[in-house]
Amino acid sequence: IYHTPERVPPDWVPDCAIAVDVLRATTTIATALAAGAEAVQVFSDLEDLEQVSQAWPAEQRIRVGERGGKKVEGFDLGNSPFDCTPERVKDCRLFMSTTNGTRSLARIQSAKIVLAAALVNRAAVVNYVHQLYPPTVWIVGSGWEGAYSLEDTVCAGAIAHSLWMLTGLSVAEFAGNDETVAALALYRHYEHDLLSLFHQASHGQRLLKLGSLDDLKYCAQTDILDVLPIQTEPKVLVAG
Ligand code: MLT
Repeated sequence: IYHTPERVPPDWVPDCAIAVDVLRATTTIATALAAGAEAVQVFSDLEDLEQVSQAWPAEQRIRVGERGGKKVEGFDLGNSPFDCTPERVKDCRLFMSTTNGTRSLARIQSAKIVLAAALVNRAAVVNYVHQLYPPTVWIVGSGWEGAYSLEDTVCAGAIAHSLWMLTGLSVAEFAGNDETVAALALYRHYEHDLLSLFHQASHGQRLLKLGSLDDLKYCAQTDILDVLPIQTEPKVLVAG
């Protein structure tokens, strides 16, 4: 586990990498794909998103832009998972750029297998990774502009804990680095009340000030969507 993309070693190529931005990008990606979106294509840069999405048929194109927790002016959607209803997203491609989530996806592009995970689809991702049983798995939190985020670390801990239970390994054999041990401990402390941790998290408080309590409640739900967001071409995720 790495708490933020910046903490990922520059020269290491893992077999499998999982991006986590539980408030809210990877929760929204999982929700959109579960609702029938054709794909989610992620961009770090808004202008790049605008240019590439122009070439897509307008009736199958949804532009998702978020900065600072708010919808970007002129975009179709902000980054609330509640906007990703089947009626709205079915058979559409989401062109998405968010403050941090799309950056952690960009950082793990060197991996052979790239996945996006949140609490809502943890079980689907864990089961896939366990069957694959790759020698190395990165779980990379998105953080907030380079800083650590409680919500991404606890989500990474939730994923790691489920995977660890399935392996039957000792924690010493399983946990590759100190950040994994820390994330597992955080998850074990809050696993029965993840929402209370979201309320304490700085981005959780930012979203609450923006009136997004319902988003926090939704994002804190575990294993409710059986969807595996997997990358099929650079920065394009589909339901696996
Ligand atoms: C992020 O990229 O940091 C989040 O997705 C922001 C948000 O949607 O609140």
